[in-house]
Amino acid sequence: MSDNKKFFITTFGCQMNEHDSEIISGMLIEKGYELAKERKDANIVIFNTCSIRENADKRFFGTLGQLKKRKMAERENFTVCVCGCMMQQQHIIDTIKEKYPWVDVIFGTHNVHELPILLDNLYKEKHKQLSIWPEGAEIVEGLPTERLFKHKAFVNIMFGCNNFCTYCIVPYTRGRERSRKPEDIVREVKNLVKDGVKEVTLLGQNVNSYKGEHDNGELCDFADLIYLLNDIDGLERIRFMTSHPKDLSDKLIGAFKDCAKLCHYVHLPVQSGSSKVLKEMNRKYTREKYLDLVKKLREIDPEIAISTDIIVGFPGETEEEFEETLSLCKEVRYDSAFTFLYSIRKGTPAENFKDQINEDVKHNRFNRLVEVINDISQEKNKEYVGKTLKVLVEGPSKTNSKTFSGRTETFKLVNFKGDSSMTGEIVNVKITDCNTFSLEGQVV
Ligand code: 5AD
Ligand code: SF4
Repeated sequence: MSDNKKFFITTFGCQMNEHDSEIISGMLIEKGYELAKERKDANIVIFNTCSIRENADKRFFGTLGQLKKRKMAERENFTVCVCGCMMQQQHIIDTIKEKYPWVDVIFGTHNVHELPILLDNLYKEKHKQLSIWPEGAEIVEGLPTERLFKHKAFVNIMFGCNNFCTYCIVPYTRGRERSRKPEDIVREVKNLVKDGVKEVTLLGQNVNSYKGEHDNGELCDFADLIYLLNDIDGLERIRFMTSHPKDLSDKLIGAFKDCAKLCHYVHLPVQSGSSKVLKEMNRKYTREKYLDLVKKLREIDPEIAISTDIIVGFPGETEEEFEETLSLCKEVRYDSAFTFLYSIRKGTPAENFKDQINEDVKHNRFNRLVEVINDISQEKNKEYVGKTLKVLVEGPSKTNSKTFSGRTETFKLVNFKGDSSMTGEIVNVKITDCNTFSLEGQVV
């Protein structure tokens, strides 16, 4: 092993990537490496990449370009590793080899567990390491994790996606769906609880299609898994991310009533309010079906907060179809929404769709949508003023050590005056004011 033992990870993209980075940190710390505070202090830098939109690619290559000077100066005393979804695409690997030859280690989304070996090989053999497995890899259990938070944790329950939405690269980079065994998930969550964790977020590209197999061969669907986890003593909150509307079953909706630990919050990506665009996107539900799901969720759990993802400027989207998205947002009244400009992804069906939308039109629609979404978020936040809510305290703010923040069950960010003894605790906070993206309050 090299004497150069300080590493730093830069993570792009979703919670799955954030969690993979926690595992990478856990493995390297176990092997004696040390986590550096900043990239400049590290002699091993790792980039965990995202390929979901074009600007994520651009940001990654921009950052990689900046490292050339340092690599030229420090040579084998400075190691550059790249991993994540982008590495599952051959054209990206070709570009790295050709234009960024200072990269030392490339590994794929199915090879995260191999990094310590790849680093050992790099230092012993003194040549570059590449490890990309094709899809369908076995799930590797029991990897150590260096969590970002002490009291809340991400737990992978499944990997991959079978849905092939026509705009999306994920099924090509993360492979087919594979579910962990319920026993393995329960064991992990019990261990996390022993370690002080109060809240788990179950992760998967489409958690609703989780299909675990018990040790005795019986099947366990996503709702079954929630019921199992709800019974774990000491666990206080369960969240999940992301769910596909086509697979949101009545059984799962029922869990919002039955399972006290399941938070009153669901992220339910709609992508478009037009049934025609949804069909072109291969989403397998209509506007009406989606609105029906929202109605059912609110009937079962009137407190539930709902957020979503929306793409504007999908190929062929007309002004009228875009207005259907605006009207759907006004009808659902989302608590929040992630809004995206459609971006062409190489190798996806929509890359070849006719009528790609002009950038100016996309930006105009995007701005109009954000205005509608933000107005509704602000109005919804106003409804919380005067209420007292349970907040799981995350810690002090980066800019003011007396201001603390945390999340309500409905995933609202709340800022309040506090002290360090509150970190990791669930406290009652009376909401005194609100902004578009957060609430202000006082501990009571
Ligand atoms: N262009 C824009 N947004 C996209 N998303 C996925 N692929 C694309 C793309 N090609 C968005 C979807 C998804 C979220 C994670 O990213 O809204 O739900
Ligand atoms: Fe992509 Fe659709 Fe799978 Fe989500 S469900 S990861 S949008 S293909």
